[in-house]
Formats: sequence, structure tokens, C-alpha cells
Amino acid sequence: MTFERMPLEVWFDEYQFEVDYDIGESGMKFFSIKELDIDLNDVDLRYGYHLGHPGLRAEIVKQYSGQTIDNVAVTTGASEANFSVIAHLVGPKDHIIVEHPTYPSLFQVPRSLGRDMSLFHLKWEDDFRPDMDALRKLVKPNTKLITLTHPGNPAGNVITTEELKEAIEIAETAGAYLMVDETYRDLMFENLPPLAATMSPIAISLTSMSKTWGVPGIRIGWAVADESIIQAIRAIREQITICNSSLGEAIAKEILLKKDKILSMLRKSMFSNYKILKEWMDSQDWLEWVEPKSGVVCAPKLKRGGSTDELCKLLVTKYRTFTVPGSAMELDGHFRLGFGGEQEELVKGLEQLGHALKEIHS
Ligand SMILES: Cc1ncc(COP(=O)(O)O)c(C=O)c1O
Repeated sequence: MTFERMPLEVWFDEYQFEVDYDIGESGMKFFSIKELDIDLNDVDLRYGYHLGHPGLRAEIVKQYSGQTIDNVAVTTGASEANFSVIAHLVGPKDHIIVEHPTYPSLFQVPRSLGRDMSLFHLKWEDDFRPDMDALRKLVKPNTKLITLTHPGNPAGNVITTEELKEAIEIAETAGAYLMVDETYRDLMFENLPPLAATMSPIAISLTSMSKTWGVPGIRIGWAVADESIIQAIRAIREQITICNSSLGEAIAKEILLKKDKILSMLRKSMFSNYKILKEWMDSQDWLEWVEPKSGVVCAPKLKRGGSTDELCKLLVTKYRTFTVPGSAMELDGHFRLGFGGEQEELVKGLEQLGHALKEIHS
């Protein structure tokens, strides 16, 4: 078992604080506690419930019809839930199928654990749409888990309800589980499919407060699943983080209590930013893209082809603008553009991107 650093996180660690314009981030604009107007004075800084505070779990489970708080594990970000589910379900003799491209820890965890993994590739030529027959063909007798990320990061691709049903049927027939990372679901432009965990006992829903809700600093995510999986997550996390930050849980609960109001504001800002991005993309000569179907990321590529490393490096070092090269997400030739941030920053960042594109093409 070897844990190596993920190139995406190396890139973030090195450059995210060195720039003036961040148009590579994968979530909505970060909130401060002041902006959220949350009073934390009475929060006890004690150890918490190992599955998350029952009040928070009760608030979460309202979204998942047919589930109870016994089906919810609140974790240190979706990352901890992802790690725990894979570590629990996929043993040394088991096989896992991971949709790709995606947030790298989805495929890096099975690799680190030395598990037999097949990547289920979404292709540019197919507009990053999933080919369910291709998924079916990847199943082996020892497949224990299939993971999908919908909507996707970095391509902003989405899944339909019919495709989700088919993925569940494939997993059920294989005697496997299906884990769907639904971190971006609330930012889909339209036609939200049902939450996976509400559709079958073998389906696991994963999500996070980091992206839609703009609070990655509170490190709160969760899994909703069959109780046996929830209990396994508890056992694993008791050996890593024990429980969540009491401050993080308190903030998450306050946000969820005001969910509808905050979400409608966030979606408005996402659509308004997307309009700016689309107009900019339509007016420039050097990039092509599959238009995202969800906020707040997309993965354009250079029309002339080739790596985007030079572009992204030039952007951070000379133009103080942050994007993410595709090579950091095993998606060579593309780069990640994020449109969830401050509108002024997006406009300025795109202007800088235009300068850098001109420079590498001159
Ligand atoms: C699809 C997806 N899942 C999970 C994560 C990690 O989320 P968290 O901050 O909740 O650990 C990310 C982060 O970029 C992501 O894009």
C-alpha cells in the first residue's frame, strides 16, 4: 500500500494562494462566517457523535425519502466518506469500476490500496455522456463497487434518471454496490435525477458542503447508504478522525436550515456567471469545449491540441490567474475552468486567460 500525493492537490498547494484571480476553483464563492451571519458562541468545543450530530443528520435526511438518520454518516468532507466506502467494500481480491474523468481521489484511493480497478471512460467525442453498454462490459465476477460522479468534475457532465436506473441495474446484477458522488447535484442546470440512495439499497449517495455551499473550510460531507455501510464508515473513521469538528457541524446545520433561500441565491449567481463565461467562450478563437450541463466547472481544450501545462503555468506565474491543467486530473489536453466565484474575478480572470492564450499562440 503506497499513498502518493495527488497532482491536483500538489498544484493547489503550490499556487492557489499565489494568484489574484482564481478561475480554477471547483465550487461556489467561499463564504465567511460573517457573511453567513452564524453565531457560534454557544458551540461546545467537545468531541462529537461519531456518525455526526443527530440534529444535523436529521436535517440532512429530510432530502432522502425513505431513509432515516441511521442511514446517514457525516464525515470529514466527501473525501473521508469516499475513502471509507472503498476501503470497506473493496477487498484485496475484489474489483472496482471508477468513472473517469472525475475528482482524482475517486480513482487514487483504489490505486493506493492496490485494488484491481477498471476506469469507465467518458469521452470528449461522446460529449462526456456515459455509454452504459461500455460500463456493462467492464463488470467482472468479482466487481464489488461501481462509482459514478454526477454531475462531473471537471467536465460538468450529467446523468439522466434512465442512465442512473441502468447503472443501478448493472450493479445489482453484478452483486455489487453503486456509489454516486452527488457533490454538484444541486448545481445542475435542469432535470435533477433522484438521489441515488433513495433508489435502491445497493446505492450509496455521497456529497459535500464544499462546492455548492461554498464552505470547504468546514470539512463536512456525508454518505447516505444501507445501515451496514454506515456502521463500517463509523469503524473506519474512528481510526482516522474519530468525529467531525463541532464548529463545522454547527455551521453545516445552520446553512441547511436556510437551504432553500441560500440555494436560490447561489443558483442565480451561477447562471449569471455562466452567461459571462459562455459569451466569452463564444467570442474567442483558441479554445473548444463541451458545454457543461451543471455548475460550476468545465474542461475546455486547445483547438490546436497538445498539453495545457504551459498555458496554466504561464497563467499563474505571469498573469496571477489560477486554472487547473488537465494533467493534474489525468485529462491531458484540457484544463479546468471554474465559474462559481466572484463575478468581477471571473471577468478579470477570463481577460488574463485571453492574454495568455494570445501569448502561447504568437
Ligand atoms: C466530485 C468531488 N467529490 C469530492 C470532492 C472532495 O470534497 P470534500 O471537500 O467534501 O472532501 C471534490 C473536491 O473537489 C469533488 O470535486
